Amino acid sequence: MKTLKFENGDQMDAIGLGTWKSEKGEVAKAVKVALNNGYKHIDCAATYGNEAEVGEAFAEVFGKGDIRREDVWVTSKLWNNAHKKEDVIPALKQTLKDLQLDYLDLYLIHWPVAFKPEVSFPEKADDFLSLEEVPLIETWKEMVKAKEQGLVKHIGVSNFSIEKLEELMKDTDHAPEMNQVELHPYLQQDKLLEFCSKNGINVTAYSPLGSGDRSDEMKADNEPSLLENPVINKIAKKHGASAGQILIKWSEQRGTAVIPKSTNEGRIKENLQSAGFQLDEEDLKQIADLDDHFRYVTGKFFEMEGNSYENIYND
Ligand SMILES: NC(=O)c1ccc[n+]([C@@H]2O[C@H](COP(=O)([O-])OP(=O)(O)OC[C@H]3O[C@@H](n4cnc5c(N)ncnc54)[C@H](OP(=O)(O)O)[C@@H]3O)[C@@H](O)[C@H]2O)c1
Repeated sequence: MKTLKFENGDQMDAIGLGTWKSEKGEVAKAVKVALNNGYKHIDCAATYGNEAEVGEAFAEVFGKGDIRREDVWVTSKLWNNAHKKEDVIPALKQTLKDLQLDYLDLYLIHWPVAFKPEVSFPEKADDFLSLEEVPLIETWKEMVKAKEQGLVKHIGVSNFSIEKLEELMKDTDHAPEMNQVELHPYLQQDKLLEFCSKNGINVTAYSPLGSGDRSDEMKADNEPSLLENPVINKIAKKHGASAGQILIKWSEQRGTAVIPKSTNEGRIKENLQSAGFQLDEEDLKQIADLDDHFRYVTGKFFEMEGNSYENIYND
C-alpha cells in the first residue's frame, strides 16, 4: 500500500477506516476487525459521538501487545463549537481521554465554521460565531501549540477551499500538513489537489464511496450513486474487483489517503484489499470523464439566513 509522507519523515498508510455514522455497539468491533486485519490508520472525530467506544477498542488491541500504538495512525478533529482559543486544547484533551491515547498522529480543524461553545449542532443563525468573531488563525495558533506540547504529531484542516488555505497560510509559518476533503470520481478537485501538492499539504479523500448511509435529511433528491455507476462497475468486472475497491484504488493511486467507512467485517477487509491491483491508463481516462463537481456533503446545513456563512467551498 502507498503511504503519505510528512516533512519529519512520518508516514501514514493511504487506506484508513472511517468512523462517521458507525453506531455505538458496532464501532468498537469495526475498529478491532480493521486493526486485526492490517489497517494502520483510523479516522475519528469528536462530533461522531463514538470516540469513547473507539477508545475501548484501542485499549483492548494495544493492551494485548500484538499491535503497538506507535504503528497505528490515529486522526481526530476539533468540532466547530471549540474554535475559541481557550476551548481548543481542552477539546483535544477530551478526545485523547475518550480515545484512551496519550497523543494523536493528526488533529484537524473539522470545518472552517464556528458555533457558540454550547451548541453541538446549529438550529438557527444565532447558534453561530462568525469568522470575524473567531478568526481561523486564532484557532490555528492553538493547534500549533498542541503540536508543540506533544499532544499531537501533525496538524491540519478539513473542508478548506484554496481560498481558505491561502488566507490561513499568509498569517502563519506553520502551514497545515493535511486537508481532508470530499473526493471521488464525481468530485475530483484537480485544482485543490494541485494547490495542496505545490504547498506540501497532504490530502485525504472522504466519502469515497458516496456516503450512502447518511440520513435522508442530508441527502439531495436523486443523488447519483458511485457504487452503481456503470463505468466503475465495468472497470470492476475487468479487474475481478468490487465497485468499492475501484473507488478506493482510484484515490490511493492518485496519491491521496482514502478513508472508507464500514462496520461490516467483509467490507472492511475487502476495502483494504483495494491496494492489491492497479488501474491502467484506460481505466483512469474513463474515470476522469466522470467528474461533474457533485458533492454529497454540501455544507449547506451550515448556511442559514442571517448567519455569515455562505458558499463554504467557494465553488
Ligand atoms: N472531514 C469531514 O468533514 C468528513 C465528512 C465526511 C466523512 N468523513 C470521514 O470519511 C469517512 C468515509 O466517508 P463516509 O462515511 O461519508 O462514506 P463512505 O465511506 O463513502 O461510504 C460509507 C457507506 O458505504 C458502505 N460501504 C463500505 N464499504 C463498502 C463496499 N466495499 N461496498 C459497498 N458499500 C460499502 C458503508 O456501509 P457498511 O458500513 O454497512 O459497510 C456505508 O453505507 C467517514 O466515516 C469519516 O471518517 C469526514
